[in-house]
Amino acid sequence: MILNSYAKLNLYLAVLDKRQDDYHNLDTLFERISLADRITLKPRRDREIKITTNCSCIPRDDTNLAWRAARLLQGSFNLKQGIDIKIQKRIPIGSGMGGGSSNAAFVLTGLNQLWKLGLSQKSLVGLAKKIGSDVPFFIYDCAFAQGSLRGDKIRPLRQFAGIKLWHIVVMPKIKVSTPLIYKKWDEYSKLTKPASGVRILLSALRKRDFYLIGKSLFNSLEQITAGLYPEVRRIKEVLLGKGLQSILMSGSGPAVFGILPSRKEAVSLSKQLSTKHRSWQFFVTHTI
Ligand code: C5P
Repeated sequence: MILNSYAKLNLYLAVLDKRQDDYHNLDTLFERISLADRITLKPRRDREIKITTNCSCIPRDDTNLAWRAARLLQGSFNLKQGIDIKIQKRIPIGSGMGGGSSNAAFVLTGLNQLWKLGLSQKSLVGLAKKIGSDVPFFIYDCAFAQGSLRGDKIRPLRQFAGIKLWHIVVMPKIKVSTPLIYKKWDEYSKLTKPASGVRILLSALRKRDFYLIGKSLFNSLEQITAGLYPEVRRIKEVLLGKGLQSILMSGSGPAVFGILPSRKEAVSLSKQLSTKHRSWQFFVTHTI
């Protein structure tokens, strides 16, 4: 079985408060994008879970979220089957685009089919929550969704099904630790109040008002990550210098995306910038 394990962008991410369990309550808007890892699932004769990958950058042991997803299914239902999981990485790790979480979610849905478990979406979401805050979004087959609580309570926004945004995504050569960024937010939380709420962004999307979409993008963590890693600020400056108005860091970063009117413009900008900024990775991607 071969699966596309899509990435996400956060078009809006307001950190509301710190919780008793040390996580943070969020109000976030997820967008699923075409940038994807490829996952191949192959049944094994024994009970082992084996990860293979083209990238030495991800772990192949029990710290890999895809491994944990398979183990969680095996353990929860006392299954005898094992699995080979091949991950061809394209989503940069530690980027804020949810690559590891996506891999876990697609392994859960893939194995539900392959092992004929017949689990409902609700059960899969329950398992996904145990793996990580960003995992449940990928269980839903929807392009846009609002996330609350830890970001794991999902409200699919099916009314936006027809919207296709084009993006350029720029990834600097740094890796960001999500827990560190949230810890810093605890210190500086008063600095990062949103100018407008997620409702304005939802209304802008509904009206396909690209000017207003650009104006209402927001991420509480952007100032924090950019303060620690000036490279993030630099990317924003470069994109602004090219006339882009809709620019935001995704998740806890450091990947920064821009919204463009068409594929053509996204490809052209990406080509232009990649010759000059060789240490950055560029991706052209769209809503899926
Ligand atoms: O849920 P996940 O394991 O992906 O989260 C990674 C880290 O990000 C957590 O350990 C926590 O430090 C931080 N986090 C948070 N609040 C959230 C999501 C993540 O504090 N809503």
